[in-house]
Amino acid sequence: MTVITVGNMKGGVGKTTLSLLFARYLANRGYTVFLVDADPQGTLSAAVLSDRIDLFDERGRLTLGMHVVLREFLENRSLSNEILMNNVVFVESPTEPFWLLPNCVVSSHYDYKLKEMGKQLVVFRHILRLIDIDPDVVIFDTPPYFNSFLVASLVCSDCLLIPAETSIQALSGVYEMLDLVLDYQRDGIMDLRNIRILPSKHKRTRIAELVLDRLIENFGDYLLEGGKVYFPFTELCNRVFCGEISLEQVKQEAEKSKKDNSMASRLLKFLKLLETEVVLPYASEETLAKLVKE
Ligand SMILES: Nc1ncnc2c1ncn2[C@@H]1O[C@H](COP(=O)(O)OP(=O)(O)OP(=O)(O)O)[C@@H](O)[C@H]1O
Ligand SMILES: [Mg+2]
Repeated sequence: MTVITVGNMKGGVGKTTLSLLFARYLANRGYTVFLVDADPQGTLSAAVLSDRIDLFDERGRLTLGMHVVLREFLENRSLSNEILMNNVVFVESPTEPFWLLPNCVVSSHYDYKLKEMGKQLVVFRHILRLIDIDPDVVIFDTPPYFNSFLVASLVCSDCLLIPAETSIQALSGVYEMLDLVLDYQRDGIMDLRNIRILPSKHKRTRIAELVLDRLIENFGDYLLEGGKVYFPFTELCNRVFCGEISLEQVKQEAEKSKKDNSMASRLLKFLKLLETEVVLPYASEETLAKLVKE
């Protein structure tokens, strides 16, 4: 099992978009994927469950998900496998099925409680031990600030992906994120084997190119192919994110265009490289045997 946190202390840099696109891509390849919405803002859950009105009450709160799991874990001090599975949604899709532990703003109440009760280092580990789906890959989408959910995700992760928007204001989020995890790594609280900075929302403006150069200069070792490959900023990403088109259709588009630099080809190339760099090196024999050959 490979456990991945997608995090950046800066908001709006593409964490949720990357989490869902990567989850869909890996599911399409044959991995069993468990996606955890660790952000009480619930952007990911709202996108994935946009047509599941049955899962929301009249006040717009989810009737299942992270807040129920945390209530059981913290207040009732017992989290059974059955309760956990009742709060996880299987997102059915012919080509990209995955599991989701959804979230909504109700769980923000538990941020303070997790810290107060000293449970932030164990809570997600407990969930991963208990979950009955044997995931090959777990992806945590986290909030854009330092809180219990971010720490809880990082301490049980092997890999951290930091989407880094190539704007001057967004650079600080990368530094803050790295400072935080390197401190925790030194104290032995985290054990991240793989940290990747992924330039995101990159447009070829002069300022964005300067910021990309700075990222390459300062963090070259953390970038994919030294910064040559980044998370493309394209309408296509939004359409896959919303479920408007499937990755099968993106593949067909890439084959049809036959251009190596078409948006569809660039997106697939990026996701494939991410799989090769952060998932495949740690995959078990059983996982490898399940994968779709490309
Ligand atoms: N690769 C991309 N291509 C096109 N649009 C993108 C891409 N990545 C993100 N966006 C857009 O940027 C906005 C912010 O993206 P997203 O919600 O993924 O960021 P975030 O870091 O999760 O934000 P938050 O910190 O609020 O959780 C959204 O409108 C999204 O559609
Ligand atoms: Mg988000």
